[in-house]
Amino acid sequence: MSETILTVKKATIEYQSPSNIALVKYWGKKGVQIPMNPSISFTLSNCATTTSVEFEHSTEEEEVAFEFLFEGEPKPSFHPKLAKFFSLVTQDFPELKQYRLTINSSNSFPHSSGIASSASAMSALALCLGDFEKKLKEDNYPYNIQERVSHWARLGSGSACRSVFPGLALWGKTPEVEGSSDEFAIEVDDVAPVFKDYCDIVLLVDKGKKKISSTVGHQLMDGHPYANARINHANENLGRLMKILQKGDVDDFIEVVENEALTLHAMMLASNPGFFLIHDGTLKIIEKIRYFREQEGVKLCFTLDAGANVHLLYPKEDHDTVTAFVIENLLEYCENEAYICDSVGRGPKRLNEIYE
Ligand code: DP6
Repeated sequence: MSETILTVKKATIEYQSPSNIALVKYWGKKGVQIPMNPSISFTLSNCATTTSVEFEHSTEEEEVAFEFLFEGEPKPSFHPKLAKFFSLVTQDFPELKQYRLTINSSNSFPHSSGIASSASAMSALALCLGDFEKKLKEDNYPYNIQERVSHWARLGSGSACRSVFPGLALWGKTPEVEGSSDEFAIEVDDVAPVFKDYCDIVLLVDKGKKKISSTVGHQLMDGHPYANARINHANENLGRLMKILQKGDVDDFIEVVENEALTLHAMMLASNPGFFLIHDGTLKIIEKIRYFREQEGVKLCFTLDAGANVHLLYPKEDHDTVTAFVIENLLEYCENEAYICDSVGRGPKRLNEIYE
């Protein structure tokens, strides 16, 4: 069957996509962005990237011609990463090479907050491309668009494939969940009410650029002496967490989530070369969280990404108590007392779509 493909002279598509925070961590990859273990995350709400892509029809090129602007300023330093991304996406969507792209991106969170923006940025960009392809192929569009977009987002940055979905998203093949895949993430919606509006206060302990990029960090899992043990452990934690999320057991949630965060950093410490991203302030915050939980019985816990910042996770009903605790006890460890209040969100939003 021959495909009918529309030619659009000019189009603008704009998306806002949130960041996400992993509960079971993706750490280590193989092949083209295939994770060594399954991961699951909360999609956030306030920490987001807005990206608009202008598509202009031109003659077909070898590669996608594009310009990238961050907050209105050209950012050539992003070009190599984007060029690699487009070379992978055009294997699925070769018609994209007939367009010149102007990409404009901005983040809701401050420039240097130490928050990784690759998840929200690559998912926002993939969403714009997904809608554009659907428009070009109109009635002959045979794909599940969310799977396709999540797959493209993954090619840009592994964790980005989870940001395409609201609530909770799982990436990586696991016998625990039917339909799970290494290629794209899926939404997890069989979740107890308490986890549907869970809160996350991000404590900005270090707002600087990461000392080590995730890409380099993932590479250190190749030949890591504890790699197999970690992969088995992540699979076990994932299986446990799936049941916990369904049951709504917050105590068990805390146990698995904190264990995952500390294991991630333990893997970094035991890498060759070993590295540590935790600061004094990170450790102080962890101690205080645990002490407060023991003393007051408030069900807050922490998780960490590949950096010094702490994500403080807790049920919505504890919001006032936790905020008061943070202001009184934890801000002294944050750079310029900076923190961000976020919560589980509803996923990406299309902000604009114009075709000429
Ligand atoms: C520790 O998705 O940033 O945040 O695929 O190289 O872009 P690349 O890595 P990235 O890694 C995220 C690692 C993590 C854990 C997680 O989000 O699951």
